[in-house]
Amino acid sequence: MQQWKISKETTKMIALGLIKRIEVDYGTPFYLMYPNIFRENVRAFKGAFEKYYDKVLVGYSFKTNYVPAISGLAREEGCYAEVVSSMEYKMASRIGFDAKKIIFNGPVKTTEDIFFALNEGSIVNLDSQYEVDSLLSYKKQNPSKEVKIGLRINIQLNDPNGKSVIQAGLKIGRFGFSSQHLEEVIPLLKENNITINSLHGHTSSSDRSIENYLIIAGELLRVAKRFSLSNVEYFNIGGGFFGAAAEGIDVEGKPSYSDYASSITSFLCDDEWFIKQKPTIVIEPGVSVVANVFSFVTKIYQHKTVRDKHFIIVDGSVFDVKPSMHKYNLPFSLLNVDAGTETRKITTDVVGSTCMEKDIILSQVELTAPKKGDYIILHGVGAYTHVLTPTFINYVSPIFALENANIRLIRRRQSLNDIFNLFDV
Ligand SMILES: Cc1ncc(COP(=O)(O)O)c(C=O)c1O
Repeated sequence: MQQWKISKETTKMIALGLIKRIEVDYGTPFYLMYPNIFRENVRAFKGAFEKYYDKVLVGYSFKTNYVPAISGLAREEGCYAEVVSSMEYKMASRIGFDAKKIIFNGPVKTTEDIFFALNEGSIVNLDSQYEVDSLLSYKKQNPSKEVKIGLRINIQLNDPNGKSVIQAGLKIGRFGFSSQHLEEVIPLLKENNITINSLHGHTSSSDRSIENYLIIAGELLRVAKRFSLSNVEYFNIGGGFFGAAAEGIDVEGKPSYSDYASSITSFLCDDEWFIKQKPTIVIEPGVSVVANVFSFVTKIYQHKTVRDKHFIIVDGSVFDVKPSMHKYNLPFSLLNVDAGTETRKITTDVVGSTCMEKDIILSQVELTAPKKGDYIILHGVGAYTHVLTPTFINYVSPIFALENANIRLIRRRQSLNDIFNLFDV
């Protein structure tokens, strides 16, 4: 089983000296980012697929973490930008993605968004009927243009016992066109001489298992054959993979990049339609390439005991590391500033700087001699953190990139002006 680890080089770099150096100039808390790990992840995931199939495209999921220093690296690595809103589309353009290398997904796109993206030649995957209406009016205005469009297909993911494994335990997912709906939409597009160039099957699951991708791929194949689609250039199985787990997370029994790639490609390459059409396989990883690319450093302010229960109070908050407030403890390390000879261990909650009782960063973890001024480092916080962190009680924290022993500030701490500028005061 492949292990995704923070490299020895990086672990050495997260030394006390480095943290103190940053703190002197910028204070705490702050994020550390490891660009080399991101590069390695993207190359490894793409390479795993390319071992079995020569037309593979990685659409980096902006929503997971759009920090420009990361999405810019994705561009350098040859990824496309996978965006789900007009805001993300504009970000991708500003970062330098060629419009033809933008995959425009998402449930809400205005008519203006659709017209713009089609004029620019982006890959557009429609999600609902109202977008078909916009598309038809685009075609009406551009009757002689070859208009190409993608369709997101609604997919039911069940485990072998027939139980839905759609994210959050939902029985039915809401994204994409249902089979019944496709019966109306595809003939309508054909009638209007609109080419279907992309089939999109992203479906977030609770277990990220390989079998889900075989269901997705199977359903896309079924649709392609049912409607005799012969212009599908992009066969998009979406994101939602496991991977990029920080050191300390149990990856036993979890699929590796290579496990996904070999199963999915062998399933597809067994199919006559697929071999004949030879579309590009598109994957849209987010978590699975960026989770282990960030850590968060927070400082201890107080060790408090309330009726025998220990609390370690730090200056970060749960919103900085797991805004979704899931119940799992992230991998962490404690950096004692002055460990001395004390070896006393306590079992404690590590709680944040907001006034919410449920601001619990780590629950019932064992720490050795934690003291005021020590640091706790949370690992594996690269996915769905910055993008979901609210301005709640504290400023949004800065990010420092660590590369080849250099520290680079890539996002400063939020200021009062950043907050007030949005208001009419
Ligand atoms: C369309 C689409 N593609 C890709 C992703 C990335 O998923 P993940 O970060 O789980 O890999 C998402 C996330 O929800 C998505 O909605």
